[in-house]
Amino acid sequence: MKTVLKNEIEYGNWVPQKMILIPIILGITILMPGLFHWGFIIGGLIFLSIGIYFTIAWHLFSAKGGNIQDQVQELLVNHIDWQGAGNVLDIGCGNGPLTIKLAKRFPEANITGLDYWGKNWNYSIQVCEKNAQLAGVAERVSFQQGSAVQLPSEDNSYDLVVSNLTFHEVMQAKDKRDCIQEVLRVLKPGGIFVLQDLFLLKAYFGTPQELLDLMRLWGVSDVEFIRTCDEPFIPGLVKLPFMLGAVSILRGKK
Ligand SMILES: C[S@@+](CC[C@H](N)C(=O)[O-])C[C@H]1O[C@@H](n2cnc3c(N)ncnc32)[C@H](O)[C@@H]1O
Repeated sequence: MKTVLKNEIEYGNWVPQKMILIPIILGITILMPGLFHWGFIIGGLIFLSIGIYFTIAWHLFSAKGGNIQDQVQELLVNHIDWQGAGNVLDIGCGNGPLTIKLAKRFPEANITGLDYWGKNWNYSIQVCEKNAQLAGVAERVSFQQGSAVQLPSEDNSYDLVVSNLTFHEVMQAKDKRDCIQEVLRVLKPGGIFVLQDLFLLKAYFGTPQELLDLMRLWGVSDVEFIRTCDEPFIPGLVKLPFMLGAVSILRGKK
């Protein structure tokens, strides 16, 4: 499909439109015969409620609504304790919002935004490049296609690696902790990582204590969690575990 480039920055939304449209269409379709049967009415209302929930979440996340996406990305950047010169990798960059934030915050850094840009998300390398141009940082930012489980980089390449809400999405990684091990491979010795994801969800990453123990076993120092989900800017409505209720920053040093 051809990407249509607008002349304005577009970072997209973490709630894909299909999560709104599919339940609403299903709800309406089921409700029609439901006029004659309670089972259909209840089923239809459940699907409609799901569609309405995701519509509200979409609005809260968007820049013109609650602006939560921007605040979550800003929180990550605010927890980067780094002198600011060197090579940076942003894994699962989407349309590049975090990559561009980093370029603005660290004017001496060169930043690579990487994503596999699959069909599940409405993001593309063309929109990333256009966004970087519009933000005035294109000369220090580049974008690369690749997968978080097998990064297309040599060992010890980066001074800083970041990633926002990506590892739990990586289908190819049966164990999502493999993505963290890949981060450590491409980090230079002494390099730092600041990752933000559903790290408090046991099903993906084990318990927080297990993850900390594993990281120390892998030789990571100064490793800690910072609980994004407790931030006051995140409303209760989007604190379900599969939304932002289990989100935390995990940061440390190789
Ligand atoms: C929730 S979005 C977050 C995007 C971006 N980090 C942000 O803050 O807006 C998840 C991202 O993970 C990317 N992704 C999923 N699987 C991936 C993989 N195997 N390798 C690299 N990126 C992947 C998706 O393409 C999508 O851009």
